[in-house]
Amino acid sequence: MRIFLLGKHGQLGWELRRTLTPLGELVCLDYPEIDLTHPERVIETIHQHQPQVVINATAYTQVDRAESEPELANMINGTAPGRLAEACAEVGAAFLHYSTDYVFDGLKGSAYIESDRPNPINIYGSSKLAGEQAITQIGGAHLILRTSWVYSNRRDSFLTKVLGWARQNRSLRIVDDQVGNPTWARLLAEISAQLLAKTGGEPLPWIRERSGIYHLAGDGVASRLEWAKAILRLDPNPEAQICQEVLPARSSEFVTPATRPLYSALDCTLFSSTFGLRLPPWEQALQLAMEA
Ligand SMILES: NC(=O)c1ccc[n+]([C@@H]2O[C@H](COP(=O)([O-])OP(=O)(O)OC[C@H]3O[C@@H](n4cnc5c(N)ncnc54)[C@H](OP(=O)(O)O)[C@@H]3O)[C@@H](O)[C@H]2O)c1
Repeated sequence: MRIFLLGKHGQLGWELRRTLTPLGELVCLDYPEIDLTHPERVIETIHQHQPQVVINATAYTQVDRAESEPELANMINGTAPGRLAEACAEVGAAFLHYSTDYVFDGLKGSAYIESDRPNPINIYGSSKLAGEQAITQIGGAHLILRTSWVYSNRRDSFLTKVLGWARQNRSLRIVDDQVGNPTWARLLAEISAQLLAKTGGEPLPWIRERSGIYHLAGDGVASRLEWAKAILRLDPNPEAQICQEVLPARSSEFVTPATRPLYSALDCTLFSSTFGLRLPPWEQALQLAMEA
């Protein structure tokens, strides 16, 4: 299988590079070959090399900064994915793209399914929704995997932040009114590779038949507080922690440029029933990540 991976330095991209390698010929493109604010160059490369699959692991993911850089966020998350999907349709490649739980407003009060109506409440969420819509409108063979609360232990993430805070503060206050599905980037990458392996070397017809949006995130839900407590409990170097208490807080106590959806957990039943694959319970995955 000839695969193009766009973005190899991100949390997910770095893991995808490892997991996709056994599947065939993998070409990883990143800065300076690709800059999604100017997608012409990557589109030209897709036309030249005619991959069978293009995987987009790039994104503008700075949720707060997006509020003051909406054009940039929209260009990278909204416009570029549509242009990539178009190029894929032109060369007969399948397109694999990732989106977010932040396309929802978080007011449903239970886990979101794919047919729930998106209603983003921040620029990042609306830019990612625009990307979904652009890809869907092109109508080529595509899978959009909406995921949630992605972390890794090698790049700046909630996990590394909590570990850092607990080494510098005696007391932590973490919000308990934001609920989602913690998702380890490595397992998300593993499942993406297993998905492609299932295509039996014929990704285009296989993915065309199953094209659409699917929810794929760590199994089970957690509040940020529960997640932080689990991180500290599973910390391989607990002696480095000086933190003695982790207290609940409300989102309204922390003023941030972007408002976060409160209950943005994803129901992943459609993904598991369609593909026969699922991510393990988030706590089990966290334990594996902490031991990695
Ligand atoms: N992180 C989360 O909690 C979360 C939650 C739900 C969904 N998602 C989605 O999951 C996917 C993977 O997220 P992630 O956490 O792996 O993201 P990430 O770690 O922020 O990685 C994104 C990658 O995109 C690159 N990038 C940014 N602007 C670019 C541009 N103009 N041209 C080319 N590359 C550019 C970044 O490069 P630099 O590092 O050099 O900027 C980085 O390597 C994304 O689609 C994201 O929206 C993430």
